[in-house]
Amino acid sequence: MIDEQVQKYSEELKKLGIEHRVMEHPDMVEAEKVQAYLNDDLSGSCPTLIFKAGDNFVALVKRGDVRLDNGKMKKALGVTNLRMANKEEFENLTGVPVGAARVFNSGLKTYLDKSIFEKEYLNGGTGSFEVTFKYKTADLKKIPGAAVVEVTDGGKARIFAGMRPTGRLHLGNYLGSAKGMLALQNMPEYETIFMVVDLHGITTPYDRAGYRENIRQVMLDYLAIGLDPEKSILTVQSRVPEHIELAYLFSTVTTIAKMSHLPTFKEKVKQYPEHVTMALLNYPVLMAADILVYKAEKVPVGIDQEPHLEVAREIARRMNQEYGTDFPAPTRFATKGEYVPSLSGEGKMSKSVEGSYINLTDDLKTVTVKIARMPTDMGGPGEVPKEGPVANIFKFMELFKPDKLEYYAGLYVQGKLRYAEMKDDLARAIFDEIRPIQERRTEIEARSGYAEKVIEEGAVKARDIAQITLKEVREKMGLNGILGT
Ligand code: TRP
Repeated sequence: MIDEQVQKYSEELKKLGIEHRVMEHPDMVEAEKVQAYLNDDLSGSCPTLIFKAGDNFVALVKRGDVRLDNGKMKKALGVTNLRMANKEEFENLTGVPVGAARVFNSGLKTYLDKSIFEKEYLNGGTGSFEVTFKYKTADLKKIPGAAVVEVTDGGKARIFAGMRPTGRLHLGNYLGSAKGMLALQNMPEYETIFMVVDLHGITTPYDRAGYRENIRQVMLDYLAIGLDPEKSILTVQSRVPEHIELAYLFSTVTTIAKMSHLPTFKEKVKQYPEHVTMALLNYPVLMAADILVYKAEKVPVGIDQEPHLEVAREIARRMNQEYGTDFPAPTRFATKGEYVPSLSGEGKMSKSVEGSYINLTDDLKTVTVKIARMPTDMGGPGEVPKEGPVANIFKFMELFKPDKLEYYAGLYVQGKLRYAEMKDDLARAIFDEIRPIQERRTEIEARSGYAEKVIEEGAVKARDIAQITLKEVREKMGLNGILGT
């Protein structure tokens, strides 16, 4: 049912000659969710933001997936003071709840960011959480007094990922996630920030004496696989204390109830009943701060982290509503990762299962022995099994020696497979994959102080960005001024 207000708004648009199609959906506040429901993403949306620019309030329509450049915005509007309207101002000016802003707001000067004209149609607000309009973007210039500006940074989408220092990388981590991070680092459309999240690592019992060295080793592993301080910001979380400050500020808009009901929290409580601490409860809040202190939009993590990302989006929305900040709604970025099975026959390769994994540092002999130990069967005859230990060996063949997969599968069918030969082939292929990583690692290790230097320089770059966000948040939360901050 289209309510009367939306109807009236639609009439207004028609009078202005602005083409729009009406789309109804269940009551949803997050643009992300509405877009997903409509089989689209943020690049197909055009949110309207309300700002106080100098002494006046203005509306800005931009594309949902681009970042605002504050400097460009001030310049285009000819003001030195610029901030987003707070909740009260927003609702007074637009007459609709936060998150439901319409594209046309009579009485407000409207600025249209250039980004919207790259698409012929974009979905935008109507004042109702149950209705979205698909606007013809060219028609938006018919909004009385509308001005076209270029105020988004048009730059790179920021990506943040945190790696917990749980130990050295193994083959499963490498193919499952690290290789994906590497691919992102090398794509020109992204700016990547990768950190060893040592503060998350101490939310469960850990080895204090070895922790520093552990962190350093993890960093060396990532450098060895090809993460490059020239291309990515690489550092350690605790070297950027802004994460902690922002996490604290975020905790003021986060309920205990919500945090204590997260499946990830409950699992840890079960696993470590003696260590149910505030830090553990606060884990998702700190993670939200990790991401949002850089206003990163994309987070390459596994599906198990989705509840945490939802928390981050909710915190972003709360902060934007309460304090007029402009935090983006970060989404999970599924990189193409490979599922690497366990050597022991069941499940996936994992550090927590002894004998299940191959270290990136294993030499040819070690790899050969580990592969030789993999459980097998009689070697056919018959179909190659789809599950179990034999299926796993064939999965390894597919991952590391695809050109010989058919050959060995054929032998299996005939009952002529000799595992010794196949395993030997496989061990060599796996070693060929990890050898260059080992060589790079040896080279990096020889440069004394290299990891430390990367971490320190990365921290400086990260803090440059993080401090801008913190300054803004402190200001908006009423924490600045008196003490000269
Ligand atoms: N929770 C993540 C994991 O267990 C690690 C992490 C901490 C993280 N902060 C992050 C991942 C920020 C991505 C972004 O893997």
